[in-house]
Amino acid sequence: MNNFIFENATKTFFGKGCVKEYLSCLVGKYGDTVMLAYGGGSIKRNGIYDEVTGILTAAGKTVVEFPGIMANPTYAKVQMGAALAREKGVDVILGIGGGSVMDCCKAISMAAAYDGDIWDDFWARPGVVDFQPLPLGVIVTVAGTGSEMNGGAVITNEARKVKTGRDYPAANPRFALMDPTYTYSVPRFQLASGGFDILSHIMETYFSPCDAENVSDDISEALMRGVIRDLRASLANPEDYNARSNLMWESTMAENRLIKLGKKGDFQCHQMEHQLGAYTDCNHGAGLAVLHPVYYRHIYKDGLAKFKRFAVRVWGIDPTGKTDDEVAAAGVEALAAFIREIGLPTTLRELGVDESIDLGIIAASCNVAPGGYGKMCHGAIARIFQEAY
Ligand code: NZQ
Ligand code: ZN
Repeated sequence: MNNFIFENATKTFFGKGCVKEYLSCLVGKYGDTVMLAYGGGSIKRNGIYDEVTGILTAAGKTVVEFPGIMANPTYAKVQMGAALAREKGVDVILGIGGGSVMDCCKAISMAAAYDGDIWDDFWARPGVVDFQPLPLGVIVTVAGTGSEMNGGAVITNEARKVKTGRDYPAANPRFALMDPTYTYSVPRFQLASGGFDILSHIMETYFSPCDAENVSDDISEALMRGVIRDLRASLANPEDYNARSNLMWESTMAENRLIKLGKKGDFQCHQMEHQLGAYTDCNHGAGLAVLHPVYYRHIYKDGLAKFKRFAVRVWGIDPTGKTDDEVAAAGVEALAAFIREIGLPTTLRELGVDESIDLGIIAASCNVAPGGYGKMCHGAIARIFQEAY
């Protein structure tokens, strides 16, 4: 194993009824004013809003609402949230939603407690968080990003056409409440897209050194098999509690830093998807689904042994009578077939990327990730975008 330091400051409450049981006690630790941050209104339709506001009111809290956090949250929205938090003297932020709400809230929690420009000092380049962000708690409503148990926040700066994420441990939520029944109402497309995002996080970690036998890769293989199983079961029956709860925890496990220990991490596909998102506002998991098979067809020969292992251990490909190259390639094609099976787009055109979009400009704006098996450059990224179209 390579050396590592592990820390995770988020206290996590998991399971049916956890919001009812613990929220009042958790917010009780902070002052009176709670900023209730959420997205486009799904929580009003599925009853989560009423449940949470009821608990907060009974606890005697003053609720300041901050609705309308969009998918792919913008820096402008972060600045609005921080201004509101300051104006109202917010004591704790409670974010209810998926990755977009949680990420936006983390950035707000930093911006509300910082005098400078957080984009310039913490997102445009990595910074040192030597101050206490405003306390944040989250209630997760969709599985996918794993944002509930890390300090990562992916923010889009619309003016600069950059979508980028940073992971600051100081921005970890203080607490996360995860009730799998809250995810029952997630639309089918978002269920598949979030599920694929989980798989992507694990693959992006797995397909990178170190390659000696290691605990992280072993856990990753079990998680990938689990995501495939539980996503299939959740799509077949949206109210399958066992499948939904597994999927929700797999999402957290993929991004709570645990499987990254001792690994370099690739995340080239994420870099490409983020810039695609900056230019097109596409759905995160669906963008990843389009890019992954194309990217892996480009690089699998550079990580042949690991791609072979993936094919055999994750997809159950029988290697008998096949060359290593054939087995590895069959694993990538099994991944592509799974994407079709779960109903996600397989081309950028299907994703809704307009023909007039200059993919060369997007490719040139992507970071080249150093940790994966492939020898990537901007030219290779441009070719991947073109093939994915
Ligand atoms: O906005 P509302 O109305 O709530 O609807 C949302 C939204 O339309 C809906 N939804 C969520 N829970 C629901 C529900 N609809 C019905 N019932 C429910 N229970 O789902 C839609 C998508 O929500 P969003 O939060 O945008 O999705 P996701 O969780 O996939 O988050 C995507 C964002 O997270 C970033 C992505 O780049 C993207 O900006 N990421 C964050 C990461 C992190 N912090 O660690 C890592 C990821 O790789 C990712 O980059
Ligand atoms: Zn992701």
